[in-house]
Amino acid sequence: MSYPNIDWKNLAFDYIKTDFRFISVWKDGEWQEGILIRDNSLKISEGSTALHYGQQCFEGLKAYRCKDGSINLFRPNMNARRMQHSCNRLLMPSVTEEFFIQACIDVIKANEHFIPPYGSNGALYLRPYIIGVGDNIGVRPAPEYIFSVFCIPVGNYFKNGMKPSDFIISNFDRAAPNGTGAAKVGGNYAASLMPGNIAKANGFADCIYLDPLTHSKIEEVGSANFFGISYNNEIITPKSSSVLPGITKLSILQLAQERLNLKVLEEDVFVSELDRFQEAGACGTAAVITPIGSITYLEKQHIFYSKEEVGPTIRKIYNELTGIQFGDISAPNGWILKI
Ligand code: PLP
Ligand code: COI
Repeated sequence: MSYPNIDWKNLAFDYIKTDFRFISVWKDGEWQEGILIRDNSLKISEGSTALHYGQQCFEGLKAYRCKDGSINLFRPNMNARRMQHSCNRLLMPSVTEEFFIQACIDVIKANEHFIPPYGSNGALYLRPYIIGVGDNIGVRPAPEYIFSVFCIPVGNYFKNGMKPSDFIISNFDRAAPNGTGAAKVGGNYAASLMPGNIAKANGFADCIYLDPLTHSKIEEVGSANFFGISYNNEIITPKSSSVLPGITKLSILQLAQERLNLKVLEEDVFVSELDRFQEAGACGTAAVITPIGSITYLEKQHIFYSKEEVGPTIRKIYNELTGIQFGDISAPNGWILKI
């Protein structure tokens, strides 16, 4: 296998133009078959709803190079289903699970030499998206849509990787109580840009949002879900209709229960009760598992296990999850699609 000239061990989460992307257009009530193209730019109408009214959604999933050279795609059916939910929320035509997964497979195969080698800790990040396009000006669903999938080799999203990162609670909200928080739509991320920048300018990895109604309960990071490990062998994650239902979160809850003997609780996580957690983390496709060293709230810093070292339970969860993703540990049924 010949690899492009990339420093695989030092990959961050940055855009790199890879060779091919999949693209299909929805017109006259149906999706075209779709093709792989080299061009990484789009020509769309100036009136596209994606540009003005945020009618768009996206996904994120990863393909991993295994020790034996084979390729693992992690739970693509879950991303396909979540994209259908996002499309329904924004009145966009969705794609079937089969179509979504086939597009991902085509893109992985066409860009196989961009998959980071086994042992580098990187993966090929796939970014499927659907956008409303076509001539339009009123606030209404678009007349046409584009479904596309591109890919990028990536390393750590948060630069500390598996070293603890510091977070701060934001006063801003990323989503409304009955809004679009549980859908993976661009508007949520637009709302998170300023709070995220303020956090980073103050030396934090990112901010954590509270529930928009009472500002008393932890919801999530702008790019990952929150979880905590209690002193009683429990893994706890916020239950909220405005949090994105993360596939990594769902996966680690199942692994924690079935393989690590932890009790799983999905419930309110009050920001005034951080003392109940011995360890805390942020989890997501891009973030993988990022240990939270501290959370700053109302000018007080709450330190978890250690600001320097990863706690033992998060270490175990990380090893189990990434072991499955890279093919070193057997996966629960249906989690891995071999490409
Ligand atoms: N929450 C937000 C806001 C996200 O952007 C992500 C990333 O996709 C997650 C949570 C984690 O979701 P997943 O584990 O499916 O990547
Ligand atoms: C992901 O983890 O896939 C995300 O979408 C997070 C971030 C890059 C927005």
